[in-house]
Amino acid sequence: MNDEVSRPAASAREQRQEILLSVHGVQKIYASKSGPVEAVRDLTFDLRRGEFACIVGPSGAGKTTLLKIIAGLLEPTAGQVTLEGKPVTGPPKTMAVVFQEYGRSLFPWLTVQGNVDLPLKNARVPKDERDRRVTEALEAVGMAHAHARYPWQLSGGMQQRVAIARAVAYKPHILLMDEPFAAVDAQTRADLEDLVRDIWHRLGVTVLFVTHDIDESVYLAERVLVLSSSPTVVQEVVTIDLPDERNQLATRSTPRFAELRLHIHEQIQLAKRGLVPAQIAAGVL
Ligand SMILES: Nc1ncnc2c1ncn2[C@@H]1O[C@H](COP(=O)(O)OP(=O)(O)O)[C@@H](O)[C@H]1O
Ligand SMILES: [Mg+2]
Repeated sequence: MNDEVSRPAASAREQRQEILLSVHGVQKIYASKSGPVEAVRDLTFDLRRGEFACIVGPSGAGKTTLLKIIAGLLEPTAGQVTLEGKPVTGPPKTMAVVFQEYGRSLFPWLTVQGNVDLPLKNARVPKDERDRRVTEALEAVGMAHAHARYPWQLSGGMQQRVAIARAVAYKPHILLMDEPFAAVDAQTRADLEDLVRDIWHRLGVTVLFVTHDIDESVYLAERVLVLSSSPTVVQEVVTIDLPDERNQLATRSTPRFAELRLHIHEQIQLAKRGLVPAQIAAGVL
């Protein structure tokens, strides 16, 4: 009897141990008019299936560059990205991306319904299944009432909800988000943060969320990867040992939240001064 009960739980645990995404030795040198620019020097990390990880780092650290490489939109100069055991050489079918510029990411000539439906249409999902998935996704982000409206009729926060619905309807194994809430007001941002955690819980999707906001990274993630300044390396990986149940007021006012944000803040300050972990350990302060 006990066995019967414990078996599914064990397999869920095993699943969470599986490496979903592997970033190995990734370097990116851009060619520019003034010569080569080494944006990313050497990034190596793994994400487990079902994990919620944030990447935080100073502006210009190469966060967008890294996300584009992971999404197969940009080729690294060196190194490799592997998703579910396969090297990423173009946009993977099991991945969805939400960018910061929601204004540009939705098609203005399509309704909300049409925007969410488009990737499913492109993936040749049958019509009734598409309709069901679009409705479910719009309900999940609280936008079902706006299905017939156009993006330009919506506020920034609502447009970003639609962009999230589009990603969710696609049922990706991994969701990449590049500073998705940087351009919305504080209250909307808090609501969207809770929405993303809720979707993560409900769908069991792996989330890689990029932000320059330390508080946001601590509030959202199970693990925070702190990037150095460009040319970028992983400065530190911080496990966020806050309870899974998060609340905008209660969680953010706990002593542990304050400790974690202070610690990451200090790491970013070191990163801005160009100190990497080896130098810190060697006492170069
Ligand atoms: N297409 C490009 N050509 C040349 N340099 C670039 C290009 N894109 C980004 N960079 C440079 O690479 C570095 C990292 O940029 P980016 O990935 O946008 O950082 P972040 O998203 O962390 O702000 C910056 O110094 C930026 O100026
Ligand atoms: Mg960026």
